[in-house]
Amino acid sequence: MGAFYQWREAPRAEFAVIGDPIAHSLSPVMQGAALRALGLPHRYVAVRVPKEEFEPALEHLVELGYQGLNVTVPLKEHAFRWARTMGDDDRRIGALNTLRLEDRSGTNTDAPGFLEVLKELGVTPPGPVCLLGAGGSARALLVALSGAGYAVRAYNRTLAKLRALVRELGVDARVMEQPDPEGCVAVVNTTSAGMTGQSLGVPWSRAPKGALAVDLFYATEPTLFLREAQGFGLTIADGRRMLVAQGALSLAWWLGKTAPREAMLEAIS
Ligand code: ATR
Repeated sequence: MGAFYQWREAPRAEFAVIGDPIAHSLSPVMQGAALRALGLPHRYVAVRVPKEEFEPALEHLVELGYQGLNVTVPLKEHAFRWARTMGDDDRRIGALNTLRLEDRSGTNTDAPGFLEVLKELGVTPPGPVCLLGAGGSARALLVALSGAGYAVRAYNRTLAKLRALVRELGVDARVMEQPDPEGCVAVVNTTSAGMTGQSLGVPWSRAPKGALAVDLFYATEPTLFLREAQGFGLTIADGRRMLVAQGALSLAWWLGKTAPREAMLEAIS
């Protein structure tokens, strides 16, 4: 568990990650390493903000002189409602993970960060990419993947929820009734099933040779999803790469400087 502050006791600092719970966040270590590598004196801390207290907490952090915030679960939709300025994709996603307090603007770097990671791992459009889940992360990835020209095959335990999401976003994704990886160059887990140690029941033997399994979650050990995929010979990537990518894009957005990704990955490895 990392050190964190309750928002009323937040220290003077320039940057923070806010969420609830927040003790598990790797962002302070990662962003702290990035700021040091850039030779900047800025401080980056973790602050617990319960969702019912989002507005007063933000006002307080503005008064304390904070410049930028990374926003994590369950506050991304609150951040979206708080921000006055954002891009078109951010508006479609309906959730922000990055805020600039001075001008009350925001951006979602989860989606473009994820696309960067896929490219780094050699997964290029049109894919196809198999996407599991229909929560907030799946929503961001549906917008990102279809916008970037990937063919998307999506599955969710509650099919009706996924169908409604695909319809609402107006994205061209094929909804599957089973989590079938056949023909997919990457299988991406956005569900929280791994957190509770439950299997999603992907028939991995149907995945093409050389396919990639990506889990948005990270833990000290590979998740059950990744262990199963690895057992069938898939290449695996956990949420750390995504964490670095989104964090690097947030830093670049705040500072107008390229973020030191190597130092960031090293700090959380
Ligand atoms: P987030 O906003 O973090 O993306 P969320 O809104 O909490 O996540 O959504 C969780 C996702 O994980 C949902 O797609 C959920 O499936 P349902 O829509 O059927 O609830 C999925 N999920 C959670 N636990 C799961 C499990 N044990 N098996 C399969 N899917 C699971």
